[in-house]
Amino acid sequence: MSAAVAVEDLAFTYPGEHHSVFDGLDITIESGERVALLGPNGSGKTTLALHLNGLLRAQRGEIVIGGLVLDDDTLAQIRRQVGLVFQDPNDQLFMHRVRDDVAFGPTNLGLDTVEIARRVEQALHDVGAAGLAEQAPHHLSGGERRRAAVASVLSMNPEVLVLDEPTSGIDPLGRHELAELLTSLPQTQLVVTHDLPFAHATCARSLVLDQGKIALDLETKTLLNDPDLLARHRLALPFGYRS
Ligand SMILES: Nc1ncnc2c1ncn2[C@@H]1O[C@H](COP(=O)(O)OP(=O)(O)O)[C@@H](O)[C@H]1O
Ligand SMILES: [Mg+2]
Repeated sequence: MSAAVAVEDLAFTYPGEHHSVFDGLDITIESGERVALLGPNGSGKTTLALHLNGLLRAQRGEIVIGGLVLDDDTLAQIRRQVGLVFQDPNDQLFMHRVRDDVAFGPTNLGLDTVEIARRVEQALHDVGAAGLAEQAPHHLSGGERRRAAVASVLSMNPEVLVLDEPTSGIDPLGRHELAELLTSLPQTQLVVTHDLPFAHATCARSLVLDQGKIALDLETKTLLNDPDLLARHRLALPFGYRS
């Protein structure tokens, strides 16, 4: 069986920049795995997330999703298969009601109204946000907004979820609820974060991005218990945290 996500020899430099973000990045994630992608600011986490559903295109190498190589012909299909939850929920939620945001993707797929309604109910139920359907996204708390953003991606029935800094802007209880939500979902997940306790709560495996390469690929608990390793990759636990 093909890996859920394979990044093979990816190279990418932003237009007009001298330094490449990646120059030969390789990652493999098996189906059903939840993997944390850790790394300091500027290490390329968001750039990678944007490649996984084709919002940025590889300048060399390949992105392969469920055995399908991302190219012009497969782009639309891969966009459906890989749900990207943006760092800022305001980039994802732009309608007047949560229900309409969650319906947006399925509506664009041209599904019939019965199927759209079914998917919206299911996605809102799966994220524990059925009661938020009629609310305006900008009236929600950070945690509620994040769950609504996840629902707006789940309604596309993706096989892979990529979440970019999902804990930013949410309080400790919301963070706890989000960890429970992610661990309850069946999708293969890449959780981009610099929140190490959150990575520990959601992902058994961690990848550490440093200088455009995967510097470490290890059990999250091993990383958390190794202060030297954390320091070497510019990662730090919150004050007072004990794993
Ligand atoms: N739109 C852009 N144009 C030029 N450089 C960018 C752009 N977005 C990010 N970068 C640069 O690419 C590198 C990786 O950024 P990013 O993927 O956002 O890192 P992270 O998400 O890990 O903080 C950084 O050096 C950043 O300054
Ligand atoms: Mg980022």
